[in-house]
Amino acid sequence: MRPPRPNDYRDAWCGELRAERIPDTVTVAGWVDSRRDHGGLIFIDLRDRSGLVQLVFHPETSPEAHALAHSLRAEDVLSATGALARREAHNVNPHLATGQIEIAVAGAALLADADTPPFPLDAAGVDEALRLRHRSLDLRRAPMQRALALRHQVVGVMREVLNERDFLEIETPYLTRSTPEGARDYLVPARVAGGRGPGLFYALPQSPQLFKQLLMIAGYERYYQIARCFRDEDSRADRQPEFTQLDVEMAFVRQDDVIEMMEAVMGEVFARTGFPVSPPPYPRMSYAEAMSRFGSDRPDTRFGLELVGLGEVLAASAFKVFSGALEAGGVVRGLNAGARELPRSELDALTEVAKQHGAKGLVWAYLQDDGTLRSPIAKFLSASEVAGVIAATSAAPGDLLLIVADASEVAAQSLGALRLELGRRFGLIPDGAHSLLWVVDFPAFLWNAQEGRWTTPHHPFTAPDGDLSEPASLLSKAYDLVLDGSEIGGGSIRIHQPDVQRRVLELLGISAEEAQSRFGFLLDALRHGAPPHGGIAMGIDRIVALLGGYESIREVIAFPKAASGADPLTGAPAPVSSAQLRELGLRLA
Ligand code: AMO
Ligand code: AMP
Repeated sequence: MRPPRPNDYRDAWCGELRAERIPDTVTVAGWVDSRRDHGGLIFIDLRDRSGLVQLVFHPETSPEAHALAHSLRAEDVLSATGALARREAHNVNPHLATGQIEIAVAGAALLADADTPPFPLDAAGVDEALRLRHRSLDLRRAPMQRALALRHQVVGVMREVLNERDFLEIETPYLTRSTPEGARDYLVPARVAGGRGPGLFYALPQSPQLFKQLLMIAGYERYYQIARCFRDEDSRADRQPEFTQLDVEMAFVRQDDVIEMMEAVMGEVFARTGFPVSPPPYPRMSYAEAMSRFGSDRPDTRFGLELVGLGEVLAASAFKVFSGALEAGGVVRGLNAGARELPRSELDALTEVAKQHGAKGLVWAYLQDDGTLRSPIAKFLSASEVAGVIAATSAAPGDLLLIVADASEVAAQSLGALRLELGRRFGLIPDGAHSLLWVVDFPAFLWNAQEGRWTTPHHPFTAPDGDLSEPASLLSKAYDLVLDGSEIGGGSIRIHQPDVQRRVLELLGISAEEAQSRFGFLLDALRHGAPPHGGIAMGIDRIVALLGGYESIREVIAFPKAASGADPLTGAPAPVSSAQLRELGLRLA
């Protein structure tokens, strides 16, 4: 039996004293959180996962324990036995769950000595590499305990709702073949591989996508899995090389069925964690609207600064950047950043942001009191063009207008990024506001002009919503769930007819041979009676980080990789011995 813990007595003491439930003598064990030496009395806050409790060491009544307390340091592991006592009124700590009680220690034992921690556990802003290196200390801190408990709760609610709805939780392999989700694979060299090796590799799955489709074909109509996914891409605040999905797939469903099922799951997650968003159904926005109003397929609708089209107004502009972009089939778009007088250096910095996102430049313009524009390109604009720009952007005197001329995706992306930057910089997101919506009606295919080929915004198993003969205007049956500008989940109805799948792969430039060798097992299975099916995967790390208000998903993963992708704790990735390489038939270049 575990020893009683500090908060075991919380209920009894927080409200009405119910003495009959409380033993006279208790034993607690935990870590020394802090020690206050008052000359005579020594107070120690003892910590475990449930919280803190105050121990009092008296020099006269228990000299031995008092002597021990004298030598204790932060993070020593201690067990203490003593009488549970109500604190004197002036000693009650209203901020502590156990603030009404203390334990008058009669005997104590040091269970383990702790070195001086490499960083104070209660300090803010400790270097992240140091925290990750000493993660067992870092995880002792209350915010980390909260994060992992929240994560546990979220996953628990997800399982509960899906179990109630007759889903089966099924595991799929980690040692497998490449899954085309668009990132690079992590490869695992195989030593024997049924006598075929060496020189053969497993790929770690980028998602369980192909296996969950096989499960539908196998007749497991409702599947889910808390699945680890592996993608060799650069880490960011919301991206890890390995991360966790709630992965779901259903047979005999349409898009609305999957959306409603996931709304039931997420509605319960938000309700049970007290996250203030409206209950389902969640609003839906088309990809086209998201791109044109917010310049993003994961729009953050918590603030304005929406994008507007200026193409019509500036079609005949004497400023060649504008007319040239339009003639080349591009767009001129802009946004009204509001009345913000920025120094030249900040305008240059905004131009840099636009350029980092592919724009060739950024036009800025201030509307002046006399109705004219102050801008490097003011002299190129006619009075009617100025009037058109003012009308389109609803500009008032003093407003800063930002304009990009480029291919439509580039203009959307750069203005979308500028919009977010302005939102952050000027604190435009109201405290406590949240934005939750589905993005739907994605294009089935996107034309990559540089590479001269079609690509897909999702994976190649996503069902197009119509005939493949006009790929440019075809939509897909895909949907993403977006919370506060972050994509927290995405999925689609899948292709279940082998001939459609073959034609989509062809369109994407994946040859029949390549398809057969990479995922022939799915193509074969599709020919053995595949039900219409679809599903979705939710990014659990992102969801928990947003729910808990954490800056990065690293804060809600017990043992994450650093931003560099390396693991400061274990030192992975690390070299291996030449014997291991030899066994695998590998030689380093
Ligand atoms: P997708 O690639 O959109 O879809 O992934 C689903 C969700 O997983 C989260 N996510 C990530 N979280 C942390 N780090 C990463 N590197 C990372 N990459 C993705 C996002 C994302 O919305 N098989 C499909 C799903 C399906 O079609 O059912 C898939 O994996 O929150
Ligand atoms: P330039 O003609 O290159 O001297 O550019 C004049 C102004 O137009 C500068 O402020 C550039 O940042 C801006 N500019 C250049 N190309 C674009 C573009 N494609 N869209 C918007 N502004 C641009």
